[in-house]
Amino acid sequence: MDSNFPPPDVDLHEDQASRAFHTFVRGARRSMETVVWDRAYRDYQDIVGGDTLTADEALPVLDRIPAFQTYAWLFRNLQRFKYTYPDWGIVSAAEAQRPKLEAALAAARERGEREGHLRLNTEIDYPDYYRHVDFHQHPGGVWSDPLDGLIYDVARRTTIPAHMDPDMIYRQLFASLPEGRKFERVLDWGAGHGAGLQTWMEAHPESEGHGIDLSAPCLIFAWKKAEERGLTPVLSQQDVARLDYPDNHFDLIFFVFMLHEIPPGPTPAILREVHRVLKPGGLFFGAEFRPPPAAGAFSHAMMVHSQWCNNEVYTPAYLKFPYIETAREIGFSRAEVKTFDRLARPQAPPRAGQEPAPVYAEFVLFDFEK
Ligand SMILES: C[S@@+](CC[C@H](N)C(=O)[O-])C[C@H]1O[C@@H](n2cnc3c(N)ncnc32)[C@H](O)[C@@H]1O
Repeated sequence: MDSNFPPPDVDLHEDQASRAFHTFVRGARRSMETVVWDRAYRDYQDIVGGDTLTADEALPVLDRIPAFQTYAWLFRNLQRFKYTYPDWGIVSAAEAQRPKLEAALAAARERGEREGHLRLNTEIDYPDYYRHVDFHQHPGGVWSDPLDGLIYDVARRTTIPAHMDPDMIYRQLFASLPEGRKFERVLDWGAGHGAGLQTWMEAHPESEGHGIDLSAPCLIFAWKKAEERGLTPVLSQQDVARLDYPDNHFDLIFFVFMLHEIPPGPTPAILREVHRVLKPGGLFFGAEFRPPPAAGAFSHAMMVHSQWCNNEVYTPAYLKFPYIETAREIGFSRAEVKTFDRLARPQAPPRAGQEPAPVYAEFVLFDFEK
């Protein structure tokens, strides 16, 4: 370690005005998810009268409903404001602090590469499906600007209510793993900002932690944060379609919110690559979301449409992809996709005399064994 350790921090300074702005955005999202959603559901029911349509048929009906149009506008624009609203948006705030933040990240990169914890590939070939889509409206994608890892990390924390632990999803994912198994070598598959791998490594200091991602800015940020927490993962810039690990290498490959960002074309080859680098008996285990199966056409159509609004363009195909059949063909001995019980959200209480509106999404666990 450097003699001047701990190094300068890489946290975005948020003043009172920007905190108030993000509190407003969160509040508006909450209204969108409750009052506006509820109204869209009631108006839809008035037109359709029960769950008689398919999701594809429900969309043109929704399109005529003002509450649905309001919902779509809010979904698109609250996220956009969160990033780029002048002065208070995350990108705008980061821009104002760029020299200090870039210097801290560049120093972390130098240390990580020198110590062999960070392997960046300046020649990496970004797949077109990744390069051309600004997923979740992150301006320019999460890979094109040195501050993208930091911006991504602030964005994920401002999406959920302020009192909630943004790392809870990782804790609950790991708590859902089968008891009594040891995972000596572990890979965070699409590690992004790195919080998942750091949460794993703090709880399992005995295990060797690896993380991959296409985004160099994310990996550099993830290394910086790992350093601050006294952790030593091995992070490398790789495409999940072409991993440079040997066969039978990992006991556990985990992921959070990865599959819905990969289009169906390359998915079978990517799953084959997962299978190759897992040890026999190793687990591929991750969290995703879907409309609750019982929620019907309304929720399905609302999700598909709002995912389009948020530039999550592969979600509709992800929702239809036959993961279990594909996993079995590849040779996984077990493949299940099940409700992520630990993150199950309670249904909103019905208003007097009314059916409760269905919830937007449920979290699911992908649980595959080689
Ligand atoms: C929605 S983010 C999830 C990040 C993180 N797992 C989390 O819990 O928030 C998806 C991540 O996968 C990465 N990614 C997408 N396609 C990839 C690919 N083909 N190979 C490697 N990483 C990829 C993105 O750069 C991004 O960091």
